[in-house]
Amino acid sequence: MNPLNPVSLENQANFESPIIIALDYTSEAEVMNLIQQLDPSLCKLKVGKELFTACGPKLVEKLVISGYKVFLDLKFHDIPNTVYRACKVGCNLGVWMLNVHASGGIRMLEQAKLAVDESNSDTLLIAVTVLTSMNQADLAQTGINEDIKTHILNLAQQSYHAGLDGVVCSAQEAAHIKHATSPDFIIVTPGIRLNDDVTTDDQQRIMTPKKAIQNLADYLVIGRPITEADDPREQLLAILSSIKSIKSV
Ligand code: C5P
Repeated sequence: MNPLNPVSLENQANFESPIIIALDYTSEAEVMNLIQQLDPSLCKLKVGKELFTACGPKLVEKLVISGYKVFLDLKFHDIPNTVYRACKVGCNLGVWMLNVHASGGIRMLEQAKLAVDESNSDTLLIAVTVLTSMNQADLAQTGINEDIKTHILNLAQQSYHAGLDGVVCSAQEAAHIKHATSPDFIIVTPGIRLNDDVTTDDQQRIMTPKKAIQNLADYLVIGRPITEADDPREQLLAILSSIKSIKSV
C-alpha cells in the first residue's frame, strides 16, 4: 500500500489526521485555491486573526459546511463576560475548536467553559499557554521571571482545573503537560518545522512532526511549511506518512 496515497489513509478505520493547517491568508480566493487540493480526511483547518479579520464569520461557516473541522484561533483574552459572549458566538459558528489565552485568569477560563457548555455544542475549548514565538528572555520582558517551563505548566494546570479540553503549547512541553494533567487533556502544538535545522521564521520553540507526536502532541498546527510548499498536498501527505507508524494510521 502506498503510504502517500490519500485513499489508503482515508480507508483506515482509526485514522484521524492530527494535522491542522493554519490558513494565514487575507483572501477567500487563496483559501479556496489551497483547500481544493486537500480533503477533510487529510487535515483540519485553522482560521486565525488575519483571515478572520479579512473575511469574517461567513468564510468560517463556509469551511464548516464544506466538511472541514475548523479551529477558530482567535485567542480570546478579555474580561470574563466578554470572553463568555465571544465563545458563545464562536460555538454558534459550528467550529470544532476555539481558544482563549490561559493568562486571562481562572475566572475568564471558567466563563469561557460555561459558554461552551451552555451552547450544547461539541466545540473543544483550549487555552494558549505561552506563545511558541516566545522564549525565556521574551517572557522576562513581560515581567514574568518564572522559569518558562514552570510557567507553562502552571497555566496548563489552571486550564485543566477550569474544565478546558486542552492547551496550545510547544511540542517540547507536550509530554510534561500530559503527565501532569490527564491522558485525555488535548495538546495542540504549533511551532512545527520539517527539519530541526530549517529556518524557524518567528517561531522559537520548534520541533519536527514526528518528534512532536512522539512527545505526545495530539494535534499539530502547521502553517508556512505546508502553505508555502511548492506542492502543499504532497507536503501534507509526506508529513502524514512520516508520523503514520506512531499514530497507527
Ligand atoms: O507558519 P507557522 O507554521 O509558523 O504557523 C503557526 C500558526 O500557529 C500561526 O497561525 C500562529 O498564529 C499559530 N500559533 C502559534 N503559536 C501559538 C498559537 C498559535 O504559532 N502559541
